Amino acid sequence: MQISRSSFPPGFLFGAATSSYQIEGHGFGGAGSTHWDSYAATAGNVFERENGRIACDHYHRFDEDLEIASGIGLDAWRFSTSWARVLPEGRGRVNQQGLDFYDCLVDAILEHGLKPYPTLYHWELPSALADQGGWANASIADWFADFAELMGRTIGDRIHGIAPINEPWCVAWLGHFVGRHAPGTRDIRAAARAMHHVPLAHGRAVQALRAQGVANIGAIVNFEFAQPADDDPSTVRVAALYDAIFNRWFLGAMRNACYPDVVLEHLEPHLPSGWAADMPAISTPVDWIGVNYYTRKLIKADDSKLFPGWQEVPGPLPNTGMGWEIYPEGLGYFLSRVHEEYAHGLPIYVTESGMADLHNTVSLPLEDQLRTEYIQMHLDQTLRAINSGVDVRGFFIWSMLDNYEWAHGYKQRFGLVHVDFETLVRTRKGSCHALQQMLGN
Ligand code: FCB
Repeated sequence: MQISRSSFPPGFLFGAATSSYQIEGHGFGGAGSTHWDSYAATAGNVFERENGRIACDHYHRFDEDLEIASGIGLDAWRFSTSWARVLPEGRGRVNQQGLDFYDCLVDAILEHGLKPYPTLYHWELPSALADQGGWANASIADWFADFAELMGRTIGDRIHGIAPINEPWCVAWLGHFVGRHAPGTRDIRAAARAMHHVPLAHGRAVQALRAQGVANIGAIVNFEFAQPADDDPSTVRVAALYDAIFNRWFLGAMRNACYPDVVLEHLEPHLPSGWAADMPAISTPVDWIGVNYYTRKLIKADDSKLFPGWQEVPGPLPNTGMGWEIYPEGLGYFLSRVHEEYAHGLPIYVTESGMADLHNTVSLPLEDQLRTEYIQMHLDQTLRAINSGVDVRGFFIWSMLDNYEWAHGYKQRFGLVHVDFETLVRTRKGSCHALQQMLGN
Protein backbone atom coordinates (compact mmCIF):
# COMPACT_ATOMS: atom_id res chain seq x y z
CA MET A 1 0.00 0.00 0.00
CA GLN A 2 1.20 3.50 -0.78
CA ILE A 3 0.21 4.74 2.63
CA SER A 4 1.56 3.98 6.08
CA ARG A 5 0.56 4.22 9.70
CA SER A 6 2.69 7.36 10.02
CA SER A 7 0.49 9.13 7.44
CA PHE A 8 -2.24 9.19 10.13
CA PRO A 9 -2.34 11.24 13.34
CA PRO A 10 -0.72 9.65 16.40
CA GLY A 11 -3.17 7.39 18.22
CA PHE A 12 -5.30 6.74 15.12
CA LEU A 13 -6.83 3.27 15.58
CA PHE A 14 -6.68 0.56 12.95
CA GLY A 15 -9.11 -2.24 13.65
CA ALA A 16 -11.10 -5.09 12.23
CA ALA A 17 -14.85 -5.42 12.57
CA THR A 18 -16.89 -8.58 13.12
CA SER A 19 -20.29 -9.51 14.50
CA SER A 20 -21.58 -12.30 16.72
CA TYR A 21 -24.05 -14.17 14.49
CA GLN A 22 -21.74 -13.89 11.50
CA ILE A 23 -18.74 -15.58 13.12
CA GLU A 24 -19.38 -17.19 16.53
CA GLY A 25 -21.49 -20.23 15.78
CA HIS A 26 -24.89 -19.67 17.29
CA GLY A 27 -25.46 -23.37 17.85
CA PHE A 28 -22.88 -23.38 20.66
CA GLY A 29 -23.04 -22.42 24.31
CA GLY A 30 -26.76 -22.36 25.03
CA ALA A 31 -27.71 -19.39 22.82
CA GLY A 32 -31.43 -18.97 22.22
CA SER A 33 -33.07 -19.04 18.83
CA THR A 34 -33.10 -15.76 16.88
CA HIS A 35 -35.19 -14.25 14.11
CA TRP A 36 -32.26 -14.84 11.73
CA ASP A 37 -32.55 -18.58 12.33
CA SER A 38 -36.19 -18.67 11.31
CA TYR A 39 -35.69 -16.15 8.48
CA ALA A 40 -32.88 -18.33 7.10
CA ALA A 41 -34.98 -21.48 7.46
CA THR A 42 -37.68 -19.98 5.25
CA ALA A 43 -37.20 -20.80 1.58
CA GLY A 44 -36.25 -17.91 -0.68
CA ASN A 45 -34.68 -15.67 1.96
CA VAL A 46 -31.06 -16.74 2.26
CA PHE A 47 -28.69 -18.30 -0.25
CA GLU A 48 -28.99 -22.09 0.17
CA ARG A 49 -30.91 -21.48 3.42
CA GLU A 50 -27.56 -21.18 5.20
CA ASN A 51 -27.53 -20.01 8.80
CA GLY A 52 -25.09 -19.02 11.55
CA ARG A 53 -25.22 -22.26 13.52
CA ILE A 54 -21.49 -22.92 13.09
CA ALA A 55 -20.31 -19.90 11.08
CA CYS A 56 -16.53 -19.51 11.71
CA ASP A 57 -16.70 -21.30 15.06
CA HIS A 58 -15.18 -18.19 16.59
CA TYR A 59 -16.88 -19.31 19.81
CA HIS A 60 -14.14 -21.94 20.17
CA ARG A 61 -11.42 -20.35 18.04
CA PHE A 62 -11.40 -16.73 19.19
CA ASP A 63 -7.83 -17.00 20.49
CA GLU A 64 -6.56 -17.96 17.07
CA ASP A 65 -8.50 -15.08 15.47
CA LEU A 66 -7.24 -12.52 17.97
CA GLU A 67 -3.70 -13.83 17.49
CA ILE A 68 -3.97 -13.13 13.75
CA ALA A 69 -5.34 -9.64 14.41
CA SER A 70 -2.57 -8.70 16.80
CA GLY A 71 0.02 -10.28 14.49
CA ILE A 72 -1.07 -7.91 11.72
CA GLY A 73 -0.48 -4.99 14.07
CA LEU A 74 -4.12 -3.97 14.53
CA ASP A 75 -5.01 -1.80 17.51
CA ALA A 76 -8.69 -2.56 17.99
CA TRP A 77 -11.26 -5.32 17.64
CA ARG A 78 -14.90 -4.58 16.92
CA PHE A 79 -17.29 -7.38 17.84
CA SER A 80 -20.89 -7.69 18.92
CA THR A 81 -22.71 -9.35 21.77
CA SER A 82 -25.60 -11.62 20.91
CA TRP A 83 -28.70 -10.78 22.92
CA ALA A 84 -29.99 -14.36 22.54
CA ARG A 85 -26.70 -15.86 23.70
CA VAL A 86 -26.91 -13.91 26.94
CA LEU A 87 -30.70 -13.88 27.39
CA PRO A 88 -32.06 -16.84 25.40
CA GLU A 89 -35.64 -15.57 25.68
CA GLY A 90 -34.58 -11.95 25.33
CA ARG A 91 -35.61 -11.18 28.93
CA GLY A 92 -35.44 -12.93 32.27
CA ARG A 93 -33.25 -16.02 32.49
CA VAL A 94 -29.55 -15.34 31.95
CA ASN A 95 -27.48 -17.95 30.13
CA GLN A 96 -24.42 -17.69 32.37
CA GLN A 97 -22.30 -19.52 29.83
CA GLY A 98 -23.13 -16.83 27.27
CA LEU A 99 -22.36 -13.97 29.64
CA ASP A 100 -19.08 -15.65 30.63
CA PHE A 101 -18.18 -16.02 26.97
CA TYR A 102 -18.21 -12.23 26.46
CA ASP A 103 -16.44 -11.69 29.77
CA CYS A 104 -13.61 -14.00 28.65
CA LEU A 105 -13.62 -12.61 25.13
CA VAL A 106 -13.02 -9.08 26.41
CA ASP A 107 -10.12 -10.31 28.55
CA ALA A 108 -8.67 -12.20 25.59
CA ILE A 109 -8.94 -9.14 23.34
CA LEU A 110 -7.04 -7.09 25.93
CA GLU A 111 -4.44 -9.84 26.43
CA HIS A 112 -3.75 -9.70 22.70
CA GLY A 113 -3.04 -6.00 23.00
CA LEU A 114 -6.25 -5.01 21.22
CA LYS A 115 -8.83 -2.45 22.32
CA PRO A 116 -12.34 -3.95 22.63
CA TYR A 117 -15.13 -2.13 20.73
CA PRO A 118 -18.38 -4.03 21.31
CA THR A 119 -21.71 -3.32 19.65
CA LEU A 120 -24.63 -4.62 21.68
CA TYR A 121 -26.99 -5.50 18.82
CA HIS A 122 -25.88 -6.64 15.40
CA TRP A 123 -29.15 -8.10 14.21
CA GLU A 124 -29.90 -11.42 15.93
CA LEU A 125 -33.11 -10.65 17.80
CA PRO A 126 -34.19 -13.36 20.26
CA SER A 127 -37.13 -15.24 18.70
CA ALA A 128 -39.20 -14.88 21.87
CA LEU A 129 -39.13 -11.09 21.38
CA ALA A 130 -39.79 -11.40 17.65
CA ASP A 131 -42.91 -13.40 18.60
CA GLN A 132 -44.13 -10.30 20.42
CA GLY A 133 -43.63 -8.05 17.43
CA GLY A 134 -39.91 -7.41 17.90
CA TRP A 135 -38.88 -3.95 16.75
CA ALA A 136 -42.50 -3.04 16.00
CA ASN A 137 -43.39 -3.39 19.70
CA ALA A 138 -42.82 -0.21 21.76
CA SER A 139 -41.68 -2.30 24.75
CA ILE A 140 -38.50 -3.22 22.89
CA ALA A 141 -36.84 -0.03 24.10
CA ASP A 142 -37.20 -1.28 27.70
CA TRP A 143 -36.18 -4.83 26.84
CA PHE A 144 -33.07 -3.57 25.06
CA ALA A 145 -32.17 -1.13 27.84
CA ASP A 146 -32.25 -4.06 30.30
CA PHE A 147 -29.91 -6.05 28.08
CA ALA A 148 -27.63 -3.00 27.74
CA GLU A 149 -27.55 -2.60 31.53
CA LEU A 150 -26.55 -6.24 31.99
CA MET A 151 -23.78 -5.99 29.39
CA GLY A 152 -22.59 -2.66 30.76
CA ARG A 153 -22.34 -4.20 34.23
CA THR A 154 -20.49 -7.25 32.91
CA ILE A 155 -17.96 -5.89 30.42
CA GLY A 156 -18.32 -2.11 30.69
CA ASP A 157 -15.25 -1.69 32.88
CA ARG A 158 -12.76 -3.06 30.30
CA ILE A 159 -13.91 -1.78 26.93
CA HIS A 160 -12.62 1.21 24.97
CA GLY A 161 -15.76 2.14 23.13
CA ILE A 162 -19.25 0.74 22.81
CA ALA A 163 -22.27 1.27 20.57
CA PRO A 164 -25.81 0.04 21.17
CA ILE A 165 -27.10 -0.83 17.68
CA ASN A 166 -25.34 -1.57 14.41
CA GLU A 167 -26.86 0.16 11.39
CA PRO A 168 -30.39 1.19 12.40
CA TRP A 169 -31.41 1.48 8.72
CA CYS A 170 -30.81 -2.24 8.15
CA VAL A 171 -32.65 -3.23 11.31
CA ALA A 172 -35.66 -1.04 10.62
CA TRP A 173 -36.02 -0.39 6.89
CA LEU A 174 -34.32 -3.37 5.30
CA GLY A 175 -35.93 -5.77 7.76
CA HIS A 176 -39.46 -4.33 7.84
CA PHE A 177 -40.08 -2.39 4.63
CA VAL A 178 -37.82 -4.00 2.01
CA GLY A 179 -38.08 -7.37 3.76
CA ARG A 180 -34.63 -8.53 2.71
CA HIS A 181 -33.33 -8.96 6.24
CA ALA A 182 -34.93 -10.65 9.23
CA PRO A 183 -37.75 -10.52 10.12
CA GLY A 184 -38.53 -10.15 6.40
CA THR A 185 -41.65 -8.07 6.91
CA ARG A 186 -42.98 -5.83 4.14
CA ASP A 187 -45.37 -3.57 5.96
CA ILE A 188 -45.28 0.20 6.20
CA ARG A 189 -46.78 0.31 9.71
CA ALA A 190 -44.27 -2.19 11.10
CA ALA A 191 -41.50 -0.35 9.23
CA ALA A 192 -42.48 3.06 10.60
CA ARG A 193 -42.65 1.68 14.12
CA ALA A 194 -39.26 0.03 13.77
CA MET A 195 -37.87 3.28 12.32
CA HIS A 196 -38.86 4.92 15.61
CA HIS A 197 -38.27 2.12 18.12
CA VAL A 198 -34.74 1.43 16.92
CA PRO A 199 -33.48 4.97 17.67
CA LEU A 200 -35.52 4.98 20.88
CA ALA A 201 -33.91 1.71 21.98
CA HIS A 202 -30.53 3.25 21.11
CA GLY A 203 -31.20 6.28 23.35
CA ARG A 204 -32.51 4.19 26.22
CA ALA A 205 -29.49 1.90 25.98
CA VAL A 206 -27.13 4.88 26.08
CA GLN A 207 -28.83 5.97 29.30
CA ALA A 208 -28.62 2.46 30.78
CA LEU A 209 -24.93 2.18 29.93
CA ARG A 210 -24.18 5.60 31.41
CA ALA A 211 -26.00 4.61 34.59
CA GLN A 212 -23.55 1.70 34.86
CA GLY A 213 -20.63 4.14 34.53
CA VAL A 214 -19.72 2.99 31.02
CA ALA A 215 -17.74 5.58 29.07
CA ASN A 216 -17.15 6.31 25.39
CA ILE A 217 -20.54 5.38 23.98
CA GLY A 218 -21.15 5.88 20.27
CA ALA A 219 -23.79 5.59 17.55
CA ILE A 220 -22.99 3.48 14.48
CA VAL A 221 -24.90 4.38 11.34
CA ASN A 222 -24.55 3.21 7.73
CA PHE A 223 -24.53 5.51 4.73
CA GLU A 224 -25.06 5.02 1.04
CA PHE A 225 -24.37 7.77 -1.47
CA ALA A 226 -27.67 8.41 -3.29
CA GLN A 227 -26.73 9.57 -6.76
CA PRO A 228 -29.58 10.79 -9.01
CA ALA A 229 -29.28 8.75 -12.22
CA ASP A 230 -30.23 11.79 -14.36
CA ASP A 231 -31.32 15.37 -13.80
CA ASP A 232 -35.03 14.88 -14.31
CA PRO A 233 -36.81 16.60 -11.38
CA SER A 234 -38.61 13.37 -10.41
CA THR A 235 -35.26 11.57 -10.26
CA VAL A 236 -33.72 14.31 -8.13
CA ARG A 237 -36.74 14.22 -5.81
CA VAL A 238 -36.67 10.45 -5.18
CA ALA A 239 -32.88 10.43 -4.77
CA ALA A 240 -33.33 13.07 -2.05
CA LEU A 241 -36.01 10.90 -0.41
CA TYR A 242 -33.69 7.87 -0.55
CA ASP A 243 -30.97 9.98 1.04
CA ALA A 244 -33.33 11.19 3.77
CA ILE A 245 -34.51 7.69 4.72
CA PHE A 246 -31.07 6.11 4.55
CA ASN A 247 -28.68 8.86 5.58
CA ARG A 248 -30.63 11.50 7.52
CA TRP A 249 -33.39 9.82 9.53
CA PHE A 250 -31.37 8.14 12.28
CA LEU A 251 -28.50 10.52 12.89
CA GLY A 252 -30.92 13.43 12.53
CA ALA A 253 -32.93 12.01 15.42
CA MET A 254 -29.98 10.92 17.55
CA ARG A 255 -28.01 14.15 17.15
CA ASN A 256 -30.50 16.87 16.22
CA ALA A 257 -33.69 15.47 17.74
CA CYS A 258 -35.68 15.58 14.53
CA TYR A 259 -36.78 13.42 11.61
CA PRO A 260 -36.63 14.80 8.05
CA ASP A 261 -39.94 16.34 6.89
CA VAL A 262 -39.75 14.67 3.46
CA VAL A 263 -39.95 11.29 5.19
CA LEU A 264 -42.45 12.27 7.89
CA GLU A 265 -44.81 13.27 5.11
CA HIS A 266 -45.14 9.54 4.31
CA LEU A 267 -44.39 7.74 7.57
CA GLU A 268 -46.03 9.93 10.19
CA PRO A 269 -49.49 8.33 9.84
CA HIS A 270 -47.88 5.00 10.75
CA LEU A 271 -45.67 6.16 13.63
CA PRO A 272 -46.69 5.38 17.20
CA SER A 273 -48.81 8.18 18.68
CA GLY A 274 -46.85 10.58 20.84
CA TRP A 275 -43.60 9.74 19.04
CA ALA A 276 -42.29 13.31 19.27
CA ALA A 277 -42.13 13.04 23.07
CA ASP A 278 -39.42 10.38 22.66
CA MET A 279 -37.02 12.74 20.90
CA PRO A 280 -35.17 13.83 24.08
CA ALA A 281 -34.46 10.16 24.94
CA ILE A 282 -33.44 9.35 21.35
CA SER A 283 -31.02 12.27 21.31
CA THR A 284 -29.34 11.36 24.61
CA PRO A 285 -25.77 12.60 24.09
CA VAL A 286 -23.16 10.15 22.81
CA ASP A 287 -19.36 10.44 22.67
CA TRP A 288 -18.54 9.46 19.09
CA ILE A 289 -20.12 8.60 15.78
CA GLY A 290 -19.37 5.47 13.76
CA VAL A 291 -19.68 5.64 9.98
CA ASN A 292 -20.20 2.42 8.01
CA TYR A 293 -19.82 2.93 4.28
CA TYR A 294 -19.58 0.60 1.28
CA THR A 295 -21.08 2.01 -1.91
CA ARG A 296 -23.30 4.40 -3.79
CA LYS A 297 -26.60 3.75 -5.53
CA LEU A 298 -27.88 5.32 -8.74
CA ILE A 299 -31.50 6.21 -8.09
CA LYS A 300 -34.26 6.99 -10.54
CA ALA A 301 -38.03 7.47 -10.21
CA ASP A 302 -40.10 4.41 -10.99
CA ASP A 303 -43.42 4.61 -12.81
CA SER A 304 -45.56 3.75 -9.81
CA LYS A 305 -45.86 7.24 -8.29
CA LEU A 306 -46.29 5.34 -5.01
CA PHE A 307 -44.10 5.84 -1.96
CA PRO A 308 -41.14 5.48 -2.03
CA GLY A 309 -41.27 5.61 -5.83
CA TRP A 310 -37.67 4.89 -6.69
CA GLN A 311 -35.71 2.21 -8.48
CA GLU A 312 -32.02 1.45 -8.39
CA VAL A 313 -30.30 1.39 -11.76
CA PRO A 314 -26.92 -0.21 -12.54
CA GLY A 315 -23.99 2.20 -12.47
CA PRO A 316 -20.88 2.31 -14.67
CA LEU A 317 -18.20 1.92 -11.97
CA PRO A 318 -16.30 -1.31 -11.25
CA ASN A 319 -18.12 -3.29 -8.61
CA THR A 320 -17.52 -5.94 -5.95
CA GLY A 321 -18.86 -9.46 -5.44
CA MET A 322 -22.00 -7.94 -3.94
CA GLY A 323 -22.53 -5.99 -7.18
CA TRP A 324 -21.82 -2.80 -5.22
CA GLU A 325 -20.06 -0.02 -7.13
CA ILE A 326 -16.68 1.00 -5.75
CA TYR A 327 -17.04 4.69 -4.93
CA PRO A 328 -14.52 5.71 -2.24
CA GLU A 329 -15.33 9.42 -2.70
CA GLY A 330 -18.61 8.67 -0.94
CA LEU A 331 -16.72 7.92 2.25
CA GLY A 332 -14.92 11.28 2.13
CA TYR A 333 -18.26 12.96 1.44
CA PHE A 334 -20.02 11.34 4.41
CA LEU A 335 -17.16 11.98 6.82
CA SER A 336 -17.39 15.69 6.01
CA ARG A 337 -21.19 15.69 6.09
CA VAL A 338 -21.35 13.94 9.45
CA HIS A 339 -18.72 16.34 10.78
CA GLU A 340 -20.68 19.37 9.62
CA GLU A 341 -24.27 18.34 10.26
CA TYR A 342 -24.28 15.84 13.11
CA ALA A 343 -21.01 15.51 15.00
CA HIS A 344 -21.09 18.95 16.66
CA GLY A 345 -17.49 18.43 17.74
CA LEU A 346 -17.60 14.69 18.41
CA PRO A 347 -14.93 12.39 16.97
CA ILE A 348 -15.86 10.06 14.13
CA TYR A 349 -14.69 6.49 13.49
CA VAL A 350 -15.04 4.59 10.26
CA THR A 351 -16.56 1.51 11.88
CA GLU A 352 -16.95 -0.55 8.68
CA SER A 353 -15.38 -0.46 5.24
CA GLY A 354 -14.47 -3.38 3.03
CA MET A 355 -15.45 -5.47 0.03
CA ALA A 356 -16.59 -8.97 -0.85
CA ASP A 357 -15.52 -11.24 -3.62
CA LEU A 358 -16.64 -14.72 -4.51
CA HIS A 359 -13.19 -16.31 -4.54
CA ASN A 360 -13.24 -19.45 -2.51
CA THR A 361 -9.55 -20.07 -3.04
CA VAL A 362 -6.65 -19.47 -0.77
CA SER A 363 -4.82 -16.62 -2.45
CA LEU A 364 -1.07 -16.29 -2.49
CA PRO A 365 0.36 -13.45 -0.40
CA LEU A 366 0.61 -11.15 -3.40
CA GLU A 367 -2.89 -11.78 -4.73
CA ASP A 368 -6.16 -10.29 -3.44
CA GLN A 369 -5.18 -7.08 -5.21
CA LEU A 370 -8.66 -5.60 -5.52
CA ARG A 371 -9.34 -5.79 -1.78
CA THR A 372 -5.97 -4.22 -1.03
CA GLU A 373 -6.73 -1.38 -3.45
CA TYR A 374 -10.24 -0.98 -2.03
CA ILE A 375 -8.86 -0.54 1.48
CA GLN A 376 -6.13 1.81 0.27
CA MET A 377 -8.65 4.03 -1.58
CA HIS A 378 -10.92 4.27 1.46
CA LEU A 379 -7.98 5.01 3.75
CA ASP A 380 -6.94 7.75 1.30
CA GLN A 381 -10.39 9.32 1.57
CA THR A 382 -10.21 9.13 5.35
CA LEU A 383 -6.84 10.85 5.31
CA ARG A 384 -8.15 13.59 3.04
CA ALA A 385 -11.04 14.18 5.43
CA ILE A 386 -8.63 14.37 8.37
CA ASN A 387 -6.45 16.82 6.49
CA SER A 388 -9.45 19.01 5.82
CA GLY A 389 -10.25 19.22 9.52
CA VAL A 390 -12.60 16.28 10.16
CA ASP A 391 -11.79 14.57 13.46
CA VAL A 392 -11.57 10.91 12.38
CA ARG A 393 -9.97 8.72 15.04
CA GLY A 394 -10.01 5.21 13.61
CA PHE A 395 -10.77 2.86 10.74
CA PHE A 396 -12.21 -0.66 11.13
CA ILE A 397 -12.05 -3.00 8.16
CA TRP A 398 -15.04 -5.20 7.46
CA SER A 399 -14.14 -7.93 8.03
CA MET A 400 -11.44 -9.92 9.74
CA LEU A 401 -12.77 -13.27 8.51
CA ASP A 402 -14.88 -14.56 5.65
CA ASN A 403 -18.20 -15.05 7.42
CA TYR A 404 -21.97 -15.46 7.23
CA GLU A 405 -22.99 -12.59 4.99
CA TRP A 406 -26.68 -12.57 5.94
CA ALA A 407 -28.97 -13.18 2.95
CA HIS A 408 -25.92 -14.13 0.86
CA GLY A 409 -24.95 -16.96 3.20
CA TYR A 410 -21.28 -17.94 2.98
CA LYS A 411 -20.90 -17.09 -0.70
CA GLN A 412 -19.80 -13.47 -0.37
CA ARG A 413 -16.36 -13.29 1.19
CA PHE A 414 -15.44 -10.07 2.99
CA GLY A 415 -12.48 -11.38 4.99
CA LEU A 416 -8.86 -10.31 5.23
CA VAL A 417 -8.58 -13.96 6.19
CA HIS A 418 -9.99 -16.83 4.14
CA VAL A 419 -12.10 -19.36 6.04
CA ASP A 420 -12.63 -22.85 4.69
CA PHE A 421 -16.15 -23.55 5.92
CA GLU A 422 -15.61 -27.32 5.76
CA THR A 423 -12.44 -27.47 7.85
CA LEU A 424 -12.67 -24.00 9.46
CA VAL A 425 -9.00 -23.46 8.64
CA ARG A 426 -8.01 -19.78 8.49
CA THR A 427 -5.58 -18.52 5.85
CA ARG A 428 -4.41 -14.92 5.49
CA LYS A 429 -5.18 -13.30 2.17
CA GLY A 430 -2.96 -10.89 0.26
CA SER A 431 -4.80 -7.88 1.70
CA CYS A 432 -3.95 -9.13 5.18
CA HIS A 433 -0.24 -9.21 4.32
CA ALA A 434 -0.46 -5.75 2.70
CA LEU A 435 -2.17 -4.36 5.77
CA GLN A 436 0.43 -5.85 8.07
CA GLN A 437 3.16 -4.21 6.01
CA MET A 438 1.32 -0.90 6.03
CA LEU A 439 1.03 -1.05 9.82
CA GLY A 440 4.78 -1.68 10.07
CA ASN A 441 4.56 -5.14 11.63
C1 FCB B 1 -22.92 -4.16 6.93
C2 FCB B 1 -23.12 -5.03 8.14
C3 FCB B 1 -22.18 -6.20 8.25
C4 FCB B 1 -21.87 -6.80 6.90
C5 FCB B 1 -21.47 -5.74 5.94
C6 FCB B 1 -21.09 -6.24 4.57
O1 FCB B 1 -24.10 -3.56 6.56
O2 FCB B 1 -23.01 -4.28 9.30
O3 FCB B 1 -22.72 -7.13 9.14
O4 FCB B 1 -22.95 -7.52 6.47
O5 FCB B 1 -22.51 -4.82 5.78
